[in-house]
Amino acid sequence: MTRFPENFLWGGATSAAQYEGGRCEDGKGLSHLDYVYYRGPKIPCNFMMKKDLEKAISEEATLNFPNRRGVDFYHRYKEDIALLAEMGFKVFRMSVSWTRLFPTGLEETPDPEGVAFYHNVFRELHKYGIEPLVTMIHYEMPIIFAEKYDGWVSPEIIPYCMKYLKFLIDEYKDEVKYWLTFNEINMVTAVPWLGGGIVLDRYGEFAMPAGRKGPPNLNKLPKELLQRWDQLSHQALHHQYIASAMIVKYAHDTAPGCLIGNMFNLHHLYAETPSPEDEYRAHEEHEFNMSFCDVMAKGYYPKWLLSYYEKNGIQIKWYDNYETILAEGKVDFISLSYYLSAVVTADPERQEKIGQFMRQLKNPYLKDSEFGWQIDPTALRISLNDLRDRFGLPIFIAENGLGAFEKPDEEGKIHDDYRIAYLREHIKALADAIEDGVDVFGYTPWGCIDLVSCSLVSMSKRYGFVYVDADDEGNGTYNRSRKDSFWWYKKVIASNGEDLD
Ligand code: BG6
Repeated sequence: MTRFPENFLWGGATSAAQYEGGRCEDGKGLSHLDYVYYRGPKIPCNFMMKKDLEKAISEEATLNFPNRRGVDFYHRYKEDIALLAEMGFKVFRMSVSWTRLFPTGLEETPDPEGVAFYHNVFRELHKYGIEPLVTMIHYEMPIIFAEKYDGWVSPEIIPYCMKYLKFLIDEYKDEVKYWLTFNEINMVTAVPWLGGGIVLDRYGEFAMPAGRKGPPNLNKLPKELLQRWDQLSHQALHHQYIASAMIVKYAHDTAPGCLIGNMFNLHHLYAETPSPEDEYRAHEEHEFNMSFCDVMAKGYYPKWLLSYYEKNGIQIKWYDNYETILAEGKVDFISLSYYLSAVVTADPERQEKIGQFMRQLKNPYLKDSEFGWQIDPTALRISLNDLRDRFGLPIFIAENGLGAFEKPDEEGKIHDDYRIAYLREHIKALADAIEDGVDVFGYTPWGCIDLVSCSLVSMSKRYGFVYVDADDEGNGTYNRSRKDSFWWYKKVIASNGEDLD
C-alpha cells in the first residue's frame, strides 16, 4: 500500500504562451503576453508601461519576444507527448491559447486550424492514456483587450471571453475532463499587467525603480497610486470571478462529466516574531490570500475582503446579479501553485525582495533557490491542512518546482540533483498531508519540459525533466534531451510516490 491514492494523477504542467510557440502561424493572433519582450537575463518583465507597449507594437519586427517561440510544442507535440508517456505521466496540464481559436478575440466563429490543433493534441495524449488538464486562461488575452479596453478592468471583455470559454466546453468536453478557469487568479493584484492586461501608467505617473530590476517597493510608491493599483486590480479580479463562475455553471449544466477547478498562487507566510502585531499581519496576509479561493469555492465575497475594500477606499462596480452568478458557479476542486514561503513583519519600513514578484522578509531557517525563492516543503503541508478545513474540497497541485540555470556537461548531460532534492521533499510533504487527511488527487510540477520563464521572459530559468536546446535569443536546435530528474520522476510515478531515492 502506498501513501498516495491508487489513481493519483502524476504529471507535469505548461502554458501555451510559454511553451507552444507557433505564435504567428496558421492564422493565430497575438495575445498580450506575445508583446512582452526580453530585456536581459535577470530583468523581470511583469510590468508593462504604456511606452513599453507602444514600443512593442511599433518595433515588433526588431524586438526579441521569447513567448512567441515558446519551445515549439506546436510542431513537436508528438515527440513531447511521447517523452511524457515514457515518464509514465497520467495527466498533462496545458493551456489553450485564446488567440489560436479566436485570433483577435472579436470573431464570431473559431479558426478551424486552431480547433484542429487542440483536437490533435488531446488525441495524442489519450493515445498514451494521459488525461489532459486544461487551463482555459493562463495569463493570456487577445492584445486588443489590453491595448484598447483596459484588460479585465472593463466588463466589455466578458461576453467575448464567454464565447471563447463556452466554445472550449462545447467542442472539447468529450476529450477533456479536468479544467481550470484562470491561472493564478490572485496574481492580478501583484502583477496587474500579467494577470489582467492592465497598463498601470494609463492612470497617471507610475514610478518604477530605475532599471526595473525587481518588483516595485510598495512602501516607496505614493499612497494614491497604490490605492489606484488596488482599485483596478480588484475590479479586474471581480470580472474574472464573474467569467469563471459563469463558465463553471455552464459546464455543470452542459458537460456533467467535466470537473472545473480554480487556480491560485499559494505562498505561506510566517509571522516574523510572536508579537501580536506580527501575528496579526500574518493573519491579514493569510486571509487576503485565502479570499481568492473563498469567492470561487464558497461562491461569495468573504466579509474580511469587503471590509478590506471599505477600509482602503476600493469601490467595486459590481456586475449585475453578481451574487447569484457567484453562488451558482462554485468550483468542483481547488488547485494551486506552490513554490515558496516568506516572512511577514508589522513594520512597514522593513521589506526585502523575494524572488521576482514579492516583497516580504526572508526566513533565516530556509535556503534560497538561485532565483531567491525560499524552499519550504513543510509550508505546503501546513497550507494543505488549512485548505482541507476551510473548503473541504479535493485539491490538485497544479504547479511546484525549482527554476535553475542549466547547461549540459561535455557529455551533453544535465545532472539536476538539486531539482530531484527539491521535488523529493515536496512529494514527501504531500504524502504527509495525505496522511493528515487531505484529499490531494494530482501533482503537476511546473515546466516539465523546459519552457520560457514567465517572470524573466527567458529560457535561462529552467524547470524541466527534459532539457530544450534553446537560448534567450532563440538560438539552438530546440532538440530535447533527458535530464537525471527524468529517470528519477519516472521511478516516482511507477512506484506511485514510494520510491523517492
Ligand atoms: C507561475 C505561473 O507563477 O509560476 C507560471 O503560473 C510560471 O506561468 C511559474 O512560469 C514559474 O515562474 P517563472 O517566473 O519562474 O517562470
